[in-house]
Amino acid sequence: MHRFSILETRIHDSFVEAVYTGLSSRPRSLPPRYFYDADGTRLFDLICELPEYYVARTEMTILRRHAHEFPTASTVIEFGGGTGAKTRLLFDAFFRTRERMTYVPVDISKTALFESAGPLLETYPRLRVHAIQAEFDRACELIPGEPSLVLFLGSNIGNFSHEESVRFLSALRGHQVLVGFDMQKDPSILRAAYNDDQGVTARFNLNVLARINRELGGTFDLGAWEHLSFYNQCESRIEMHLVSKRAHEVHIGSIGHTFAFDAGEHLHTENSYKFSREQIRRIARDSGLNVARIWTDEREWFSLALLS
Ligand code: AVI
Repeated sequence: MHRFSILETRIHDSFVEAVYTGLSSRPRSLPPRYFYDADGTRLFDLICELPEYYVARTEMTILRRHAHEFPTASTVIEFGGGTGAKTRLLFDAFFRTRERMTYVPVDISKTALFESAGPLLETYPRLRVHAIQAEFDRACELIPGEPSLVLFLGSNIGNFSHEESVRFLSALRGHQVLVGFDMQKDPSILRAAYNDDQGVTARFNLNVLARINRELGGTFDLGAWEHLSFYNQCESRIEMHLVSKRAHEVHIGSIGHTFAFDAGEHLHTENSYKFSREQIRRIARDSGLNVARIWTDEREWFSLALLS
């Protein structure tokens, strides 16, 4: 009985090219998707347990309370499923009313797909898994055409610009899309969530430099960099940067180039947008979708919006 299949695609995304482009531009930046190698994924899981990082916990509370109210479909597609805890909660609810279901997890990492699918297939005997290993924007062409429920949870949309969100969501028209949005709130709460007392977020941020050292033969001295995060009120986003503590040079073997950094120079590593209901409606409208319903917690710190 074959309940598992995987569609593998050629990954066009290149770490070395992204690093070369990001370090050659001014101001310098690195795309946040490169945080997530094995060490970065482990650090992100630790972030989700931190007292200051309310994001994952609050979303989980909403899912627990309202999972039985979400629409179900014979096919559930999930972009970036992570550890699968949220998916399980939803499946427990969905299997109360559905005989069979097909789950289509989409991830760039084949390992992540195998690791999440195995235990799900064991727990749910009436589940089939058709995994897709692809970049998110390319995967939109490969997902099943029939109307499905698409999950994009965990405020992953917050790491996209408005244009990226609209491009991604526009490709999902015809489906019901459940999206997790982190909401605007007192900036002191946001600042603490991205600058925790134990320094886990700082290690997560610095890991991207360690990854360049490991994978691209870089000579970054992690002690020469400092984690910085702040709330940019005009853009409604947390920004994460790495700041060079002194003037120094870094050689990257795979690029064959030495980059010079000034004292105090910033390397912009992440934006994490925070939303209002009006902004959620705007993203939906610009993507050709409607906001069918919003579920939130009592403080309205996080929202799950059903777009269709
Ligand atoms: C994955 N993403 C939604 C997280 C966020 O909150 O933007 C990544 C993160 N960065 C620092 N802490 C967590």
